[in-house]
Amino acid sequence: MDLSAHLKARAQVIEAALDRYLPPASAEPARLHEAMRYSMEAGGKRLRPALVLDACVAVGGDEQAVLPTACALECIHTYSLIHDDLPCMDDDDLRRGRPSCHRQFDEATALLAGDALLTLAFFLTATNARQPGIGPDRAAQATAELAEAAGAPGMVGGQMLDLMSEGTKPTAELVETIHLKKTTALLTAAVVCGAILGGGSEAQIAAFRRYGRGMGLAFQIVDDILDLVGDEAALGKPVGSDLDHEKATWPALFGIEASRAVAQELVEDALAALAEFGPEAEPLRMLARFVVERDR
Ligand code: IPE
Ligand code: IPE
Ligand code: MG
Ligand code: MG
Ligand code: MG
Repeated sequence: MDLSAHLKARAQVIEAALDRYLPPASAEPARLHEAMRYSMEAGGKRLRPALVLDACVAVGGDEQAVLPTACALECIHTYSLIHDDLPCMDDDDLRRGRPSCHRQFDEATALLAGDALLTLAFFLTATNARQPGIGPDRAAQATAELAEAAGAPGMVGGQMLDLMSEGTKPTAELVETIHLKKTTALLTAAVVCGAILGGGSEAQIAAFRRYGRGMGLAFQIVDDILDLVGDEAALGKPVGSDLDHEKATWPALFGIEASRAVAQELVEDALAALAEFGPEAEPLRMLARFVVERDR
């Protein structure tokens, strides 16, 4: 199977599950539920939930049993995008090819839709304990992993540093820290949660942490490059936003070509982390390569 067929198949399964887990749009307060579904159903690559499923399969687990946690990753990611686009943050009007949530609804609704998606995510990881072969221990471990990656030590902390460094001359070390927290942490949590729930060994989980680091850092470096040279229609979000906000990005420090080279090296390291795995990790290898080849 090639990568686009794989991502498409993964997206179908994930989107069907999300439809079951999200509140019906018609239930009251309908405006909140419509906003949650508006952003969740706009598409997106569904990379994080695919990583949960693919990591689970790579350690010999049952992908059906981890669907709630896979969907939790997408809920947290989508909430982070809704809040990231708000006027008080990146102030972007386009997301996933549609007006951003606060443009389609209003700021308060966007804030609350994000809050509700974040909360739904932890409902899903907690109730994942009930799936066959999972149980409370693995579900609790995955929940803690996700909370750490999404919260102050990870994504939220990274978003804070990202805002604080606008208009400054950050060091390379700080840019790396921002990227590790705001983006790499959640991508790493996706593969680590998949491995925990799938019954992976400590060595396999450690290998996935290294994979996540390389793939996740490369992902944000390429996101920064695409913000400069990407196509708005393909990306479904504005280009040039980082320059407008004088963001701390990799290409701002090192230029596009050097940044591409670093991203490539990081992906090589992510692939090296999977050396002990056989063909069962092929989807994870394809996804790592996609991170540097993508145009969306
Ligand atoms: C965008 O993530 C935000 C970053 C962390 C760089 P994606 O590029 O995965 O966004 P979607 O889910 O495909 O819309
Ligand atoms: C945001 O990084 C990462 C998040 C945690 C949402 P960006 O601000 O670069 O993401 P985009 O480019 O708006 O998707
Ligand atoms: Mg941002
Ligand atoms: Mg942004
Ligand atoms: Mg960006």
